[in-house]
Amino acid sequence: MIGEARVLVVDDAAAMREIISRNLAVLGCTVRVAADVPEAVAALEAESADLVVTDMRMPGADGLDLVRTVRGRWPHTALVMVTGFATVGGAVAAMREGVSDYLAKPFSDEELEHAVRTALERHRPAPTGDGGEPAPSFGMIGQSPAMRRVYRLIERAAGARVPVLITGESGTGKELVARAIHGAGPRRGGPFVPVNAAAIPEALFESELFGHAKGAFTGAGSARQGAFVAADSGTLLLDEVGELPALAQAKLLRVLQDQRIRPVGEDRERAVDVRIIAATNRDLEAMARAGEFRQDLFFRLHVLPIELPPLRERGGDIDVLLIAFLGDAAGDGPVPRPSPAALDALRRYTWPGNVRELRNLAERLVVLADGGSIELDDLPEAIRIAPARTTGPADNRPLRDVELDHIRAVLERAGGNKTRAAEILGIDRKSLREKLKAAERAG
Ligand SMILES: Nc1ncnc2c1ncn2[C@@H]1O[C@H](COP(=O)(O)OP(=O)(O)OP(=O)(O)O)[C@@H](O)[C@H]1O
Ligand SMILES: [Mg+2]
Repeated sequence: MIGEARVLVVDDAAAMREIISRNLAVLGCTVRVAADVPEAVAALEAESADLVVTDMRMPGADGLDLVRTVRGRWPHTALVMVTGFATVGGAVAAMREGVSDYLAKPFSDEELEHAVRTALERHRPAPTGDGGEPAPSFGMIGQSPAMRRVYRLIERAAGARVPVLITGESGTGKELVARAIHGAGPRRGGPFVPVNAAAIPEALFESELFGHAKGAFTGAGSARQGAFVAADSGTLLLDEVGELPALAQAKLLRVLQDQRIRPVGEDRERAVDVRIIAATNRDLEAMARAGEFRQDLFFRLHVLPIELPPLRERGGDIDVLLIAFLGDAAGDGPVPRPSPAALDALRRYTWPGNVRELRNLAERLVVLADGGSIELDDLPEAIRIAPARTTGPADNRPLRDVELDHIRAVLERAGGNKTRAAEILGIDRKSLREKLKAAERAG
């Protein structure tokens, strides 16, 4: 592995090239060096490398330019970005471009070895059929096989015009995916209008979606255009589509069939050119089977389903997301690094609030760690004590129970404040209430 790796070290400072090369040579790597980006590209053209370790800031083209070039031309090459604290924001941008790891100056020999090792491991080509190279990720972070499948679906969805149904637990990135589909398709110049079905009172559904004429009902002092008209020539995201009341479901079905709407209180219809993306964290198929959601509408929406995996099923994505979120939260300040024990616990934890929970945690950790490192003790108890997930018989409880324990622990720490607890968990108050209610019912 590391002993056989062919590495190219790129840095404009001779001393730095020397330190990095010497360390990697000791580990058994075959090392070449380059002093700037053009020289690095020439070296790769002459012979490819398993890993490029590059400085961020260099005169002329910089590390980020090199990263983009390598990603485009040598997708099988792993990348480690070396950066000073001052340019850590750039490192975060680099993670989005497909850098496997970054190394903050000053670093120890061990940190260098660790970064190189993880970069090589993480970048190992996937077995077969799945294409080892990082897929274009539409600005989303993570290259786990499960997310690469999602990116391929986004690409396909962007080029089609049929409805898309995005499902996944709370905080998995459903809205982000919807925006990506819109942004990568021919409608990108048009509006993207998100509508949250759970937030609209039942009586106002029609007018919110289809608009109303002046004086259409008491309180309708002036005309209102509605979400469909606002989204004309663009994309309408119907979020929490599982919460649509029956009447609204029927009307939506009609719009999907003939792309025409009729505002409340008007007798003429008008044509709209709107692409529908629906999203939900509920099991719409089960709801349709149970008669809680229209079967016909379900099938209309289910033409192109995209299922977002929960964070706990995304393997190494947790590390990459954590680094990116810590960098985002730190802004221009120093980015705290998790200790090996802390990282271990974070990887074992089940993340019921998914990516949002991780982002919220990263924001709190930046404040807590105050530029130092993140120790096991800095983590919330539920994460600290997360039982090993993959090994040992220690914990065979159903996910529901683990989740409930976590919710109760957070609630307790929040002094029983549900709004605060929901915020920490990265779910909305309503989901929190539902989960607690379901637990009561189950006894
Ligand atoms: N792969 C990702 N890379 C970077 N950020 C992400 C990723 N996935 C989610 N996020 C971030 O996590 C947060 C939650 O994402 P989003 O709002 O899209 O989730 P959701 O599935 O719509 O959640 P909910 O069901 O609660 O509405 C957002 O801040 C989003 O930017
Ligand atoms: Mg959402």
